[in-house]
Amino acid sequence: MNKSNIHYILLILLGISLWSCKAEDDFPGLEYAPNMYHSVPYAPLSQITNKDAGQWLSNREDGLGEYYNSNPHNPHNMNMRPPVPNTIKRTENGFLPYRIHKDSVEYAGRVLVNPYDSSAEVLATGKELYTVYCGACHGETGQGDGLVGKVFMGVPAYNVGRVRDLPQGQIFHTITYGRGRMMSHASQVDIDERWKIARYVQLLQNQN
Ligand code: HEC
Repeated sequence: MNKSNIHYILLILLGISLWSCKAEDDFPGLEYAPNMYHSVPYAPLSQITNKDAGQWLSNREDGLGEYYNSNPHNPHNMNMRPPVPNTIKRTENGFLPYRIHKDSVEYAGRVLVNPYDSSAEVLATGKELYTVYCGACHGETGQGDGLVGKVFMGVPAYNVGRVRDLPQGQIFHTITYGRGRMMSHASQVDIDERWKIARYVQLLQNQN
């Protein structure tokens, strides 16, 4: 191959690369692996509404461009439909957000049912969480004698008097909103965890 041949080859390559850049409506220029730019499946938040998009490589029977995927019935040019108004997002574990008002603690005690039973597994998780988040005040055995509880004062024993009979829903509610000088623990333990802790507290309520 002599020098002038190389010049011709370079010229041809330059020609091809310039031609491949030309922009027209039905021809976006040459794209390497075009499916990487144009989603073949429907993209949830966008549609390709241009009926001619990808016309140049289309062999669709309806004569439309290869990439056209518009669904004209959906609003906002999206393939996905927005959720209906007032849709409520469930938590990771499928619980609805807790909506009972802070002041309705007795109501919570009457209507709420703990979704967990006192299985060994639930109690083990409950104990672990209790030790981390409650034990410092309420004490290992729920006597209100944790290291912080002793100084904090006024932390009731779980197995005495009124507190002994607190239903599960009321314990859940107390963890969620707090009570008196006990602060809310809603940001530390999620709904799922609160119910498991409540089962463990129940165990401590029932000790003699
Ligand atoms: C900072 C200390 C502290 C921590 C931490 C704490 N508590 Fe309490 N808790 C208290 C005090 C003080 C009271 C008494 C509140 C009152 O009646 O004024 C109390 C009361 C309660 C009661 C009785 C509610 C009633 O109706 O009388 C329950 C049940 C309870 N706590 C559960 C928990 C659980 C479960 C946790 C952990 C998620 C926890 N507490 C964490 C201090 C604490």
